[in-house]
Amino acid sequence: MTLAEALPRVVVEPPGPRSRELAARLRAVESRNVTFLAPDFPVFWSEAAGAMVRDADDNLYLDLTGAFGVSLAGHAHPAVVAAVREQAGRLVHGMGDVHPPEVKLLLLERLAHLAPLEDARAVLATSGSEAIEIALKTAELATGRSRFVAFEGGYHGLTLGSLATTHRLDFRAPFAARLHRGVTWVPWPRVAEGGREEGASGADTAHAIETFARALADGPPVAGVLFEPVQGRAGVRLPPQGFLPEVARLAREAGALVIADEVFTGFGRTGALFASAAEGVVPDVLCVGKALGGGLPLSACVAPADVMDAWPPSQGEALHTSTFLGHPLACAAALAFLDVLEREDLPARARALGARLLEGLADRLRGVAAVRDVRGRGLLLGIELGEGGAARVAVEALRRGVLVLPAGERGEVVELAPPALLNDAQVEAGLDGVAAAVRAVHGAA
Ligand SMILES: Cc1ncc(COP(=O)(O)O)c(C=O)c1O
Repeated sequence: MTLAEALPRVVVEPPGPRSRELAARLRAVESRNVTFLAPDFPVFWSEAAGAMVRDADDNLYLDLTGAFGVSLAGHAHPAVVAAVREQAGRLVHGMGDVHPPEVKLLLLERLAHLAPLEDARAVLATSGSEAIEIALKTAELATGRSRFVAFEGGYHGLTLGSLATTHRLDFRAPFAARLHRGVTWVPWPRVAEGGREEGASGADTAHAIETFARALADGPPVAGVLFEPVQGRAGVRLPPQGFLPEVARLAREAGALVIADEVFTGFGRTGALFASAAEGVVPDVLCVGKALGGGLPLSACVAPADVMDAWPPSQGEALHTSTFLGHPLACAAALAFLDVLEREDLPARARALGARLLEGLADRLRGVAAVRDVRGRGLLLGIELGEGGAARVAVEALRRGVLVLPAGERGEVVELAPPALLNDAQVEAGLDGVAAAVRAVHGAA
């Protein structure tokens, strides 16, 4: 049996001796702020394929995190690995914005074709945060304005420009003096239990719309309105039906650009190629990352020509570029990933598998009083618990050979963003592992 087909197998209580030894060495050389090190966390990865990860102590885990939602096609998809190997044999690094690698052009043509935008043009980058930086700059250039409206709970990255739009105070507070002050946050409405939209609180949505309209009207004119079509790191918070189209309509009425941050949701994770389009919104600027690179670092900011041409033609110096822009290995990996996306219809798989996981979790967690909600769209799923409840579940799941992440501003949501290619036995093992972990922490009462 290959690693990709395997099931969780914990041979030594994680973190095992080798992971613990590596953690001790890491502590000596990495900034202490980067990797959370505790007696029961983390394990060091040594190999991954499909949805399975092997750690340094030979434990096998089912990865329901998709490694931050990246491995939608699974870890090390053979088509992606073959494309990277082939590319590495010819051209590893190029000169992105000077003498471009051919493969950069191929990827840009593919993105222009896939994006639901008229005559789309893109700027490539390496991280989701950088794609957001480019979107903010694009909106400033296109509108001559510099104020932005974003949503409470929104996560858009940690570089200074993007951080100014990320809502969570613990990320922003230490750097507040250097963050752009022209950002207004408005509420993200709640959807009632199970993500069922008929249950959405009308008053809540109406209040959010009203506050949003007021934010547009009060103060300097707004350059752009930035949103995640489903808020990921805030704890898988779904928008009520019709909310985002109304946001887009009001934004445009105020002369602001509609900026969709699809870094997490893009390329099928929520069951549609782009979640904003599925919500009924065609954005003016679209940011993508994570899944796009098939596991290599790659992101993009995409916009129709009439928006993107707010950037002046290059006179020899790009106003926004970076050393690794259009990196050949990442572009080759992305082209292979996009082939897999189409050939294996990952959005349809995400829809079907997501529905199965959602139903399976709801079934297995019925009667657990601590579980406040089980919700999701496609393969972006969340189990809402009380404050701080998710981290302990992540540790318990690890012990059972299943990887999940805590999310939510109060650490209250267990987030699942697995690959779209789990086999049946892995689905069952994942559901059993997560449910057992939740019950172990929160009891079955
Ligand atoms: C919606 C969204 N936007 C932006 C980012 C930032 O991307 P990166 O971590 O690649 O900079 C993330 C990362 O989790 C994200 O979820």
